[in-house]
Amino acid sequence: MEQLQDKSLVKQSSYIDGQWQQGNGAIDIINPANDDCIAQVANAGIEQAEQAIAAAKQAFPAWAKKSAGERAQLMRKWFDLMMSHQQDLGRILTLEQGKPLAEAKGEIAYGASFIEWFAEEGKRIYGDVIPSPAADKRIMVLKQPIGVVAAITPWNFPNAMIARKAAAALAAGCTFVVRPATQTPLSALAMAELADRAGIPAGVFNVVVGDDAKGIGKVLTQHPDVAKFTFTGSTQTGKALIEQCATTVKKVSMELGGNAPFIVFDDADIDAAVQGAIASKYRNAGQTCVCTNRIFVQQSVVEEFTAKYVEQVGKLKVGNGLDEGVDIGPLITQEALSGVTKLVEDSVAQGAKVVLGGRTLDMGKNFYAPTVMTGVKNTMPIAESEIFGPVSPIISFTDENEVIAMANDTDVGLAAYFYSRDIGRIWRVAEGLEYGMVGINEGLISNAAAPFGGVKQSGNGREGSKYGLDDYLEIKYLCLGGLDK
Ligand code: SIN
Repeated sequence: MEQLQDKSLVKQSSYIDGQWQQGNGAIDIINPANDDCIAQVANAGIEQAEQAIAAAKQAFPAWAKKSAGERAQLMRKWFDLMMSHQQDLGRILTLEQGKPLAEAKGEIAYGASFIEWFAEEGKRIYGDVIPSPAADKRIMVLKQPIGVVAAITPWNFPNAMIARKAAAALAAGCTFVVRPATQTPLSALAMAELADRAGIPAGVFNVVVGDDAKGIGKVLTQHPDVAKFTFTGSTQTGKALIEQCATTVKKVSMELGGNAPFIVFDDADIDAAVQGAIASKYRNAGQTCVCTNRIFVQQSVVEEFTAKYVEQVGKLKVGNGLDEGVDIGPLITQEALSGVTKLVEDSVAQGAKVVLGGRTLDMGKNFYAPTVMTGVKNTMPIAESEIFGPVSPIISFTDENEVIAMANDTDVGLAAYFYSRDIGRIWRVAEGLEYGMVGINEGLISNAAAPFGGVKQSGNGREGSKYGLDDYLEIKYLCLGGLDK
C-alpha cells in the first residue's frame, strides 16, 4: 500500500449516498499471497444496505431524467479516471485478490472498457413504432430504466464484475447498489472514490461492504424498492438468491458456474491449441467461470498435445503477484486450496495420473502448483466439478459426436472452446455445443462488445454488448387511439 501514488484510493468504509459510512466493527482484508492484513474496512450490515437502497431510490428520478449524453459524459470521466489510476488500482487488486500485477492492470482496463462502451451504447436505446392493425391507432414502444438495481459480485474479478453490471445499469438510467465480496472490497471502494471524483451524483452508485452475506443478501433480493437483482457467483448461491427474488418478482440476471470443455481435434494447429488452452486455463490461477475445466484431445494427437502442453505449463512461474515475471498467484483462501487438492486426490484414487504438479507449494498458505492430469474420465470429480484452480485434466476421445456428447454432459453451459481447421466441423461443433459462448481457435473470448452469459444452470441474461442493456430496461407499450377525425 505504501507504494501507491494516490493513497486516498484506499477507502475503509462503505460508500452510500455519496458519503463514506461507518459500520459495526471492522473486517480484516487479507493478502492471499502472504496472509498480511492490508487494510480494515468498516463492517456494514442490514441497516446500511437499506440506507443504500433508499439513497438509490431517491437518486433514481434525476439520474433517469438526464439525457444519455449527459450520463455518458460523467461515465466517460469515470472511465478516464480509472485508466489514469490503472497502476494503483491494479496494485490494490493484486494485494487483495492475488492475481499477478500485469493481469490485475489488465482487469482494470477490462472493467473500465465496460464503462466506456456502455456510456456510448446508452445513446442507442431505441424505441419502436409498430404498424398498427387499426387505422385510428398508433403503437409505440418506449424503453425505460427499470429503477434501483442491486448486485452481489465475486472476489475473482473485484473490479470488472462490478463495472460490467454498473456500467450497463447507469447507462440505462438506473441507480445501483453493490455488495462486493467480503474478501475484496478495496477495489470496489476505489471505484466508488473515482465515481465520486467523476461527478456521478450521490446515490447513483453505492457500495455496501459487510460480512453478513445472508442478511445483506436478503435485503438486496427482497426489498420492494429494488427492481432488478444481478449476481455473479456459484450456481448454488445463485439458485438461493433467485428464490429470494421471487418474493417481490424482481427481474433477475445471473452469471453462474461453468464447466468449460476445451476440445482439440486432430486437424487443429496443435501449437495454437496449446497456447489457447494455457491462456484459458491458467488465467487468474484458474479461478474464473470461463476457465477451461476439461481438455478433450482427439486420440491421434493426444500424445503430441500433452507433451507440448506439459512443457509449456511447466514454464509458468508461481508466486506473489507483485513479484516480477509471476504468471500465477495464490488461490483466494486455504479453503479453496483444500477443495482443489481434494478434487485431484479423489480423481487419482479413481485412476487419473498427475503428470505435472499435483501438490501445494511451500511459498505461502494458498499456492497450488500448475497441474496437468492424464487418463481422466468425464465422470471423475475433477471433470464433473468446477475446479477453480490451476489444474488441467486431459481426456482423450475418438470422434466428433462422442466429444460433443461428453462436452454437453453437464448441468451448466457457460463457455466452451475448440480448435479445428475444418470449416464443416467448425459449424457442426459450434452449433452442437450447449453453451452460451464458444471460442473457436481462441482461448480468450471476453470483451465489452460481446454478450457474456450462459445457458442451462450457468444463469440467464447477458452482460456486455448491446444485449447487456436489456436487463436494465423495461419495455413500455403506448397505444395512441382516437386518431379518426
Ligand atoms: C467470471 O469468471 O465470472 C468472468 C470472467 C470474464 O469476464 O472473462
